[in-house]
Amino acid sequence: MDAALRSLLDWYAEMGVDVPNVPPAKPVRAKIRPLAKTASRSQPASPQAAKSNTHTAQLKAPDLSKVRTLDELREAMQAYDAGALSDTARQPVFARGNPDADLMVIGEAPGREEDIQGKPFIGPAGQLLDRMLGAIALGEDDFYATNVINWRLPKNRNPTAEDLALCRPFLEKHIELAQPKVLLLVGGISMTALTGVTGIMKNHGEWQDVTIADKTYPTLPLYHPAFLLRRPELKKDAWRDLLNLREKLLSL
Ligand code: URA
Repeated sequence: MDAALRSLLDWYAEMGVDVPNVPPAKPVRAKIRPLAKTASRSQPASPQAAKSNTHTAQLKAPDLSKVRTLDELREAMQAYDAGALSDTARQPVFARGNPDADLMVIGEAPGREEDIQGKPFIGPAGQLLDRMLGAIALGEDDFYATNVINWRLPKNRNPTAEDLALCRPFLEKHIELAQPKVLLLVGGISMTALTGVTGIMKNHGEWQDVTIADKTYPTLPLYHPAFLLRRPELKKDAWRDLLNLREKLLSL
C-alpha cells in the first residue's frame, strides 16, 4: 500500500473517522536548498530590557541582530537566559524537520517529551500531527517545525503575553532565516500570536497574510492535534483544512 494512503488511513483510524474510498494523496515534495554555513557565534544579549513581568522582570531581550544562520540562532537560544523558563525547562526546544522545506509549522510550546529530547512535536500531539501531515503526503522532509514558545512552561500552563513577548524575537528571526513559503499555525495560541486574530473555532482553515521582516507569508491556522483528540467531532474540519493546505503547497 502507498505510504501516503497508509498514513491517511492511520490518521482516520486515530481520529475515529470512517470514510471509504479516499484516494491516496499525490506526494508534495520539499524543494531542497543547502543550509547556510555558520559564520560566527551570536552576540550576547543587548541591554535592551524585555517586557517586565513575574517571569521576565530583570531579563534582557535577546539581541539577534548579528544572527545570520539557523545554527547561530540555535546557539543564541541556548545561550539566552529566559529567567524562570530556563530555570524550569531542561533545555530550549528549537526545531525539527527540514529547514529548507516550503512549509513551516508553528506550534504552541514544548511538552514533556519535547523538553527531554529538545525537539518540537515529538510527544503524543506531535505524533498525531505527523500522521495528519502524512495524510496529505508530507513527511518530515517536507516541513520544518518550531513553536511560539521555546521552553517548556511549568506544568504545561498556557503561555502568558509576557512569555510570548520573550520568545517573539526568536520566532521572528527563525521565520526570517528559514524563509518558508507557507506557515501552518497549529492551535489558537500560535494563530493569535502570529496573526492577532482570536478564535480558532471560527478562523481555522482561513488563510491570513502575516508579514515578518518585510516578507509576507500565507498562513493557515489549524486545530491543534491535542485539541482534536478532545474534540473528535472536529476531525472533518481539520481534514478539510489539510486538503486546503495541500492545494496551496501544490500551487506554489
Ligand atoms: N509539542 C510541541 O512542540 N508543540 C505543541 O504545540 C504541542 C506539543
